[in-house]
Amino acid sequence: MGHAEFTLRDQLQPRQISLDEYWMPFTPNRDFKSDPKMVVRAEGMYYWNDRGEKLIDASSGMFCVNAGHGRKEIADAVHRQLTELDFIAPFLRAHPKSFELATRIAELTPGDLNRIFFVNSGSEAVDTAMKVALAYHQARGQGGRNMFVSRERAYHGVNFGGVALSGIVNNRRKFGPTLPGIAFMRHTHLKENYFTRGEAAQGAELADDLQRFVALYGGENIAACFVEPIAGSTGCLVPPKGYLKRVRDICDQHGILLVFDEVICGFGRTGKAFAAQSFGVTPDVMTMAKGLTNGAQPMGAVAISERIHDTIVAAAQDGAIEFFHGYTYSGHPASCAAGLAALDIYRNEGLFERGAALSPYFLDGLWSLKDLPAVADLRGYGMLAAIELHPAGGPGARGHLLQKKLFDNGLHLKTTGDSAIVAPPLIAEKQHVDRIVECLRKTLAGI
Ligand SMILES: Cc1ncc(COP(=O)(O)O)c(C=O)c1O
Repeated sequence: MGHAEFTLRDQLQPRQISLDEYWMPFTPNRDFKSDPKMVVRAEGMYYWNDRGEKLIDASSGMFCVNAGHGRKEIADAVHRQLTELDFIAPFLRAHPKSFELATRIAELTPGDLNRIFFVNSGSEAVDTAMKVALAYHQARGQGGRNMFVSRERAYHGVNFGGVALSGIVNNRRKFGPTLPGIAFMRHTHLKENYFTRGEAAQGAELADDLQRFVALYGGENIAACFVEPIAGSTGCLVPPKGYLKRVRDICDQHGILLVFDEVICGFGRTGKAFAAQSFGVTPDVMTMAKGLTNGAQPMGAVAISERIHDTIVAAAQDGAIEFFHGYTYSGHPASCAAGLAALDIYRNEGLFERGAALSPYFLDGLWSLKDLPAVADLRGYGMLAAIELHPAGGPGARGHLLQKKLFDNGLHLKTTGDSAIVAPPLIAEKQHVDRIVECLRKTLAGI
């Protein structure tokens, strides 16, 4: 690539920056660098690009900024923490806020998911959850359980464990065989359920794929089944009514752990703290990230049932490390401070309830786009929805064009393939929904 330069138009000082050195993740770099979409400021529901133009945020950044942008409480908490204690090794040492945050998370999780392991991302949470499942079965003398079950169209991050569980072909195809022993259930996006709002009536029986794997591989060989309660990254696939409960029942019958990957669903996106509570199904292990710090610091966590935790801990000799796993930045002081401040905001402003109350208006707004010829399907639950487009010019091309045009028309949104994922911050008001829908209508009509 030739040397690309870009004039960054901050309000005060225009300056040249080189675009060559930074290799952007999950981005067609050449395309971006020929037409950069640069963002320089954020507050509340809005971003500002380098030209000073305001964009409404229809995807909470990337489903993290549930309390809106630029929350001073979080910035102040991080600043205070970094000046008081910037870092302490998380192995054999600790700081009080990691315990405090773990307690606060445990207050939000369902059932006895009260043991919290800190990581730095959703991907790390997934790989950690896989290790927890393996360690648990080892600890109870069932070390033969080392298979995992995932689903088509699943996204579980980009580390090798999560890629092995990935049901998205582009995330796997260049990276070799990854882990052996992964079986994929079918996804739940059925043609007959297109344009269903919330949980579809049909499709619960797709959970029986898990039963087929039990018969095919032996349930005694399966460690865990990983499920995103709502599959987010392939465009908001809401589970059919009764589906998650049926997966839960099959897991219980065969001693298989159920892991919910709540990296997108967590922290109010579905109207409750976690989708597990919205759908009334409690997993054994739950992953989370994103909204945990309102996106202000990188952080993820795994919530583990007391039973699983206690089994792993009790199997280790007195004084021994019980779980050989952890990261330098597990429970980083600044991330814990951000997490505590974010959870305070969620609670003090009743943001989970606020999202639940706005959801019908939000979904009405999106469903009003049904008449547009480009729209192939609409799906949604809580404050998470997807608009799937009829493909044009190859898979994903129309979706990619859409997000670029939306940006130019004053709206930030994440697309995946030919689906737009709409998930505004939970501080949104009706007027923000109106603006998002209006901009979507105008842009969708022109592509
Ligand atoms: C369900 C799910 N799991 C895992 C991840 C990976 O998270 P991260 O990008 O923080 O590694 C994501 C990211 O979108 C996700 O949606």
